Amino acid sequence: MIFKWKRWFALTVIFALTFCLSIGLSKVLSAPNTAYVWNIPSWMPKPVIPADNPMTAEKVELGRYLFYEKRLSINGEFSCASCHIQKLAFTDGKAIAVGATQENHPRNSMSLVNIAYNSVFTWAHPGMKKLEVQALIPMFGEHPVEMGLTGKENDILQMLREDPNYQKLFAAAFDKGDSNINLKNLTKALASFERSLISANSPYDRYRYGNDKNAISAAAKRGETLFNSDRLECFHCHGGFNFSDSIKHERLASLGNCFSQHRTLQY
Ligand code: HEC
Ligand code: HEC
Repeated sequence: MIFKWKRWFALTVIFALTFCLSIGLSKVLSAPNTAYVWNIPSWMPKPVIPADNPMTAEKVELGRYLFYEKRLSINGEFSCASCHIQKLAFTDGKAIAVGATQENHPRNSMSLVNIAYNSVFTWAHPGMKKLEVQALIPMFGEHPVEMGLTGKENDILQMLREDPNYQKLFAAAFDKGDSNINLKNLTKALASFERSLISANSPYDRYRYGNDKNAISAAAKRGETLFNSDRLECFHCHGGFNFSDSIKHERLASLGNCFSQHRTLQY
């Protein structure tokens, strides 16, 4: 009798342990939770990240693939990176952008460097405050056509669901299963990748914030004085570490949107 009781006890313990372990393992295997480490110097505040899309290393990694994914365009030849090229500070070096179908964009491709700090995006949409929403415009917009994906939503989701690499990347960033490969998660990952595009080590950064007195030339130092002078007044609109007053970060007392008036474009 005692022997039997012991056996039951042992079995229960084994069962309980296996149960806990499997929960723990499934958490680890599907954990979208590797905290993202910001590689920024201490003088620079961290950007403010939307509560519904916290940064994780896995989302940034997935977003990197999606940003360079040419199959996210009508002819398989265009990705975000076609207009936002890393070596050109994520612009394209052209006066105005040209989309996948050769349609001209009325404006030029803006830099995405330090985009995590912007409080509002693009010139055409003064209320555009989330990168997650902005990413839909180049993909699905028709005026102008950028990537030309109007009406192709299901096709691109199917393409991603059938690709073993994206199955792996989406599972790591969000969770397993086809339903996690959806537009919402796609734009969340793209936004996370964009927020990781930080520049904080330019010669000017080193000179102004890093105590490196020789990082810029004497002419550049004279330029800085002019830039911040009452005569030229550049600093009023191009102030702070990002040279922009459309800025938002964790050390700001008020997170209001001070730039939206300037950024309303009539067209
Ligand atoms: C055809 C070229 C083109 C492609 C492809 C493209 N963009 Fe852009 N991007 C632009 C242009 C042009 C602007 C300026 C838009 C405006 O002001 O209306 C812009 C603006 C932006 C901005 C706003 C920057 C700011 O400072 O306000 C973000 C963010 C952005 N693009 C991200 C993306 C992402 C993500 C993708 C891929 C899903 C993408 N872009 C694909 C040309 C492109
Ligand atoms: C009243 C606000 C204001 C002042 C003052 C101002 N700017 Fe600007 N600056 C802007 C705006 C708004 C834009 C974007 C204009 C556009 O794209 O049509 C801009 C764009 C620029 C650009 C182009 C940036 C890019 O990515 O293409 C440069 C360079 C620039 N300004 C330099 C200066 C300099 C130098 C001064 C001082 C002599 C100055 N600005 C004064 C508001 C201002």
